[in-house]
Amino acid sequence: VIPLFDRVFVIGMGEVGRRFAAALAGRSAELVPVTKETGWERAASSEPGVRLVCVREERLAEVIARLNRVDPASLVFVQNGWIGPLVAPLAPCTRGLIWFRSKGDLFEVLRPTVFSGPLAGPLATAFIDAGVAAEAVGDRTFRVLDAEKMGFNCVVGLPLAVHGVTLGEYIVVAGDEAAALFGESVSTCAAALGVATQPGWWDEFLRVSRPLAGVRASAAKGLEFRNGAVARLARDMGLAVPVTERLLATAGFAG
Ligand SMILES: NC(=O)c1ccc[n+]([C@@H]2O[C@H](COP(=O)([O-])OP(=O)(O)OC[C@H]3O[C@@H](n4cnc5c(N)ncnc54)[C@H](OP(=O)(O)O)[C@@H]3O)[C@@H](O)[C@H]2O)c1
Repeated sequence: VIPLFDRVFVIGMGEVGRRFAAALAGRSAELVPVTKETGWERAASSEPGVRLVCVREERLAEVIARLNRVDPASLVFVQNGWIGPLVAPLAPCTRGLIWFRSKGDLFEVLRPTVFSGPLAGPLATAFIDAGVAAEAVGDRTFRVLDAEKMGFNCVVGLPLAVHGVTLGEYIVVAGDEAAALFGESVSTCAAALGVATQPGWWDEFLRVSRPLAGVRASAAKGLEFRNGAVARLARDMGLAVPVTERLLATAGFAG
């Protein structure tokens, strides 16, 4: 097997980090796991090597601050949610949209995982060779897919916590609200990213999320990167997002 990388630091060895480490095993001459306690001295230094940032979005700002000596072209970000403002100053970094689900022993591919940026090609190759669907796309396509994924992020979370239901129950009992929330989220994000929404996105969401019918959200996490970001963007652009606003208010989100 041909190594694709000389050195990769995997920062955050949680669900996503360990899946990346598995996909890259044997494809990077050196693989350095970085946890809160170990590996940071080298990861934060100017030592050459990819920094694959796999912490949750809530931790992203502090991790980026610690990586200020690293060449942005060696940074990869794979967080869910509206992280563009945090990573924009780090161009030309690489970004990923993860479309697999990992929780303990459970691993499920929902759609091909997408990468864009200088390291997109080798990362997609490593995943494909490890049997996980992935693809490298250009910047414009990534922005379209980013807007689409925000619809997923905004539906699989806040409304489930607010209503105390599973995703499957939500689609059945409040399908109109779910579709409206999805529509507000993708329209707002697409407008902010300068791309157009596509008519098939809601049906695609219903198809992709079918295996997630049993998912619950006891508490809505990372709202400032999800529905909270949509509300903020909509305010800035003068767009109406009534379902988003109502659900955020019910959840007591004050952002
Ligand atoms: N899991 C999935 O199926 C999935 C799918 C799509 C997208 N995502 C996205 O991927 C991102 C990561 O999710 P995840 O599920 O992998 O979360 P996770 O299991 O909580 O993993 C995050 C890891 O980062 C570690 N960490 C936190 N701060 C750190 C620091 N300063 N330095 C080094 N490590 C640090 C955490 O350690 P502690 O546990 O000690 O805090 C934890 O091991 C999120 O944005 C999520 O939305 C996840």
